[in-house]
Amino acid sequence: MTFVRARHMLGILNRPLRPLETCIYSLTLVIALAYLMTQPSSDFYAKNAKPLTDSTTPPQPNRATAYGIVDKQTQEVRAGIEARLSVSHYRKTFGRYKPPGIEAISETNMQGNTNELPTNESGLYVTRSRVYADANANMPNSYWDYDNLQVEWGSQDNYEIIRKIGRGKYSEVFEGVDVSSNTSCVIKVLKPVKKKKIKREIQIMQNLSGGPNIIQLYDVVRDPQSKTPALISEYVNNTDFKMLYPMLDDMQVRYYIYQLLKALDYAHSRGIMHRDVKPHNVMIDNQRRTLRLIDWGLAEFYHPGTDYNVRVASRYFKGPELLVDYTPYDYSLDMWSLGCMFGSMIFRKEPFFHGHDNYDQLVKIAKVLGTDELHAYLKKYNIVLSEQYDKILGTYPRKAWSKFVTIENQRFVSTEAMDFLDRLLRYDHMERLTAKEAMSHPYFDPVREKTQEGDE
Ligand SMILES: Nc1ncnc2c1ncn2[C@@H]1O[C@H](COP(=O)(O)OP(=O)(O)OP(=O)(O)O)[C@@H](O)[C@H]1O
Ligand SMILES: [Mg+2]
Repeated sequence: MTFVRARHMLGILNRPLRPLETCIYSLTLVIALAYLMTQPSSDFYAKNAKPLTDSTTPPQPNRATAYGIVDKQTQEVRAGIEARLSVSHYRKTFGRYKPPGIEAISETNMQGNTNELPTNESGLYVTRSRVYADANANMPNSYWDYDNLQVEWGSQDNYEIIRKIGRGKYSEVFEGVDVSSNTSCVIKVLKPVKKKKIKREIQIMQNLSGGPNIIQLYDVVRDPQSKTPALISEYVNNTDFKMLYPMLDDMQVRYYIYQLLKALDYAHSRGIMHRDVKPHNVMIDNQRRTLRLIDWGLAEFYHPGTDYNVRVASRYFKGPELLVDYTPYDYSLDMWSLGCMFGSMIFRKEPFFHGHDNYDQLVKIAKVLGTDELHAYLKKYNIVLSEQYDKILGTYPRKAWSKFVTIENQRFVSTEAMDFLDRLLRYDHMERLTAKEAMSHPYFDPVREKTQEGDE
């Protein structure tokens, strides 16, 4: 029908319009104009945009000037064609635009000469953490020699179980109450594991207790008959991350990641790697805006040059070093896991690297970071890849972060966010941001401005 009319119009273009034709075309024009006027303009979305929950956010320039998506005043996400245009615009611009201040983060020493590194028994070049490498060496042995810890067991009669709140690989966890003070607590009843592992968790929690956003250990108790140990700690009224994360806005994601970084920086500065960073181990009470890093059951003291067990962390959050058997790893492992968590939050992709087993996990990473880059990493540290990978690895180019941007997730994505992610998710553990460097990334500028705790 439209086609016939179009042909008809083309045919009559070379002569003056007849009165009836003028009438029909004018009427069509009026109807079209009236229809367009009833359609919502982009202003409609602007007027109906949800305001930021916290009205104290200082006015900021539209990010649209840099990459054309989100209005910073309203955090409004424009819909429809406009959004689609923005996504493609985003994809084109990312890579050319660098947020101001990012250069301030030093990349020196990140790509140093490995020829000067010592090798271990397996022939691997042994790196040394760029930060806090001597944290334990500077402490008395009693700080890190957990095997010799003498645990002072409290009485379990002080605590009553209220309800079960969690079940981990190594424990059953209950919400409880301290009957003497009538305050709530968490009772983590440990499953039978090696004594040494229990001592390690206790020693580490005692060392870190009181640190920013670290779960506070109140007591350690033991059943007099069965000798089953339990850790008594602070209770967080956590909302399951699968429910909570989709509800957060851009600023809240920045805020909580910043809080998590504080906990990680503190642990690392005290010589401890968490080794199991994942959403299940990050408790958030969104009403109180509190975040606590829990589950120090896999945490370990960092001593440079030590070969650590690579069977730590949960699959989706395992760093490449674990998957390629690079044993002398360090705190930077936690920064990879944080990157996986952050990637899943901003791109709304849970989990970000979805491996079906540990080998497939590396394949999923390689499909994003590229196989040439993986081989460069292996070569740099003299790592020999298990033969298991021969058949499954394949060849993949590096995928641009901007390819992950969709209409659904773009409200979390900014050039700063992608730059931040890019500096966490690096094969080379020495290249990843440290927790402290991460906290000074421009992505957190609005959070630091709001909380006034910038250089804390
Ligand atoms: N302080 C807390 N406040 C609220 N919930 C908690 C707290 N501690 C633990 N939980 C809940 O219990 C679950 C298991 O706790 P935790 O991770 O410490 O145990 P785990 O046995 O070491 O776990 P995993 O299987 O991850 O090793 C947590 O994922 C969480 O849901
Ligand atoms: Mg856990």
